[in-house]
Amino acid sequence: MAEMITLVIDGKQVEARQGATILQAARAASIDIPTLCVHQKMLLYGACRICSVEAERNGQVRVVASCGYPVEEGLIVRTRSPRIDRIRKLLLELVAPQAMFQENVGGELRRLADEYGADIHRFEYRLNAKSNRCILCGLCVRYCEEIVGAPAIGFVGRGIERRVVFYPDIARRVFAGGMEWAAEVCPTGKIGAESDSSYFGFTVEDFLADRL
Ligand code: SF4
Ligand code: FES
Repeated sequence: MAEMITLVIDGKQVEARQGATILQAARAASIDIPTLCVHQKMLLYGACRICSVEAERNGQVRVVASCGYPVEEGLIVRTRSPRIDRIRKLLLELVAPQAMFQENVGGELRRLADEYGADIHRFEYRLNAKSNRCILCGLCVRYCEEIVGAPAIGFVGRGIERRVVFYPDIARRVFAGGMEWAAEVCPTGKIGAESDSSYFGFTVEDFLADRL
């Protein structure tokens, strides 16, 4: 049986098994920490950092990504503070332009932007390419790989060209019954919103053609 660890999260004493992450310990104690790239059924990815929290040990405070940081005996965790709120606000403002659709963002990203008072237009001027509603969190790609077991969606390109694409032959077979799962995993609403009419609309072939 795994050893149990005691830590303090937001002033509350919490028990967690050794090896658990701060995020898992917090959720088990009904303490909310926002995430954009985590799913309980999928492996850790660590892309968005929105789950950052303050972790204090021996008087030293560090900002860590709670989805990947393991619990430690006596650790003191603060999931909200002026510093954490500033970090989350900035992270949301930085990803929002990529996720923009018709001057707005949707899904969990929208909810968090409202909660943290993020100005979703602040960094629009830095977006070189057209917004494609996607923050590259990888949840849809990993869902296909890890849960469905067929790579119907994948990443292509590097840097500012990086984006998700559908592999039509696999996607038609895998998603013949619909893509309701997408509404659950996609934090911007991209796939859920585009799935009805045109989810095969952007494929790896389109991506390659765009680059010619
Ligand atoms: S389409 Fe949605 S789930 Fe997929 S990588 Fe982009 S934001 Fe994440
Ligand atoms: S939820 Fe922790 S890095 Fe994305």
